[in-house]
Amino acid sequence: MDTSLLLIEKNDGIALLTINSPKTLNALNSTVLSELEGALYELDRDDAVKVVVLTGAGDKAFVAGADIKEMAAMNAFEGQQFGLKGQRVMLTMEKMRKPVIAAVNGYALGGGLELALACDFIYASEKARLGFPEVTLGIIPGFGGTQNLARRIGSARASELIFSGRMIEASKACTWGIVNEVFAPEELLAKAMETAAAIAAVGTLGVAYAKNAIVNGLNMGKEDGFRYEASLFGVLFATEDQKEGMGAFVEKRQAVFKGK
Ligand code: CAA
Repeated sequence: MDTSLLLIEKNDGIALLTINSPKTLNALNSTVLSELEGALYELDRDDAVKVVVLTGAGDKAFVAGADIKEMAAMNAFEGQQFGLKGQRVMLTMEKMRKPVIAAVNGYALGGGLELALACDFIYASEKARLGFPEVTLGIIPGFGGTQNLARRIGSARASELIFSGRMIEASKACTWGIVNEVFAPEELLAKAMETAAAIAAVGTLGVAYAKNAIVNGLNMGKEDGFRYEASLFGVLFATEDQKEGMGAFVEKRQAVFKGK
């Protein structure tokens, strides 16, 4: 049995990253957060990897939150530092050039839902349960959840989920726009890998620039976002991928992208 806290398998341009502490429902302690930040940083720099799929080990949980046993003894300063540490992981995912797909195979609670929300999009199993139980522990979401959830689904639904501390089923999370698609548990990973393969098959630069435009544009006013998009759009005309992509279309052949 592999006892590493993170498992990484790389095949055909896809890295499957699994948080591996199923006995505690993959709860995020300081050590896992540090390893996760390092692993994401390395995967972004690995030319053999074009897309990452993130999931949790075992059949019960994606991630059941930040580690409550570790947080229980923290003082205010330590709480703030722990929040900032978790936020660094979320920001690392957003700043990565490569897309990250969350395959939410079970509970995604608190820091676990924050981790999923920091991915570019979420696929979930029918048995996934999502929520922010923090208020029931006397705290609030601290790994970016108040910001990312409200930006994704609006403040009203985000407020309902965060203030009530209730869990919702995957189907409702899909209706609310938190989750893109819901699959039978045994199909979830294969479906995430199928979409990852489609992303890996296209030009890496186009995907990276599209992610950049979407993630950074969300923090801008609309006209600034449009200007930012135009700059990235223009820069791509200086790349080999653009010449190859459009040349292949004109010549009626399959494009072969180099990611440069
Ligand atoms: N932290 C630490 N340990 C956790 C954990 C967590 N977030 N979630 C589960 N575990 C541990 C349990 O303590 C238990 O360990 P022991 O066997 O040593 O007691 C093991 O995982 C299995 O859990 P349960 O026995 O509780 O399993 P269950 O099926 O009865 O219940 C559950 C599942 C409803 C998810 C329940 O475990 C639960 O409510 N977990 C806590 C969820 C939570 O509150 N998450 C938010 C944390 S706060 C946060 O994340 C802050 C932030 O924004 C940064």
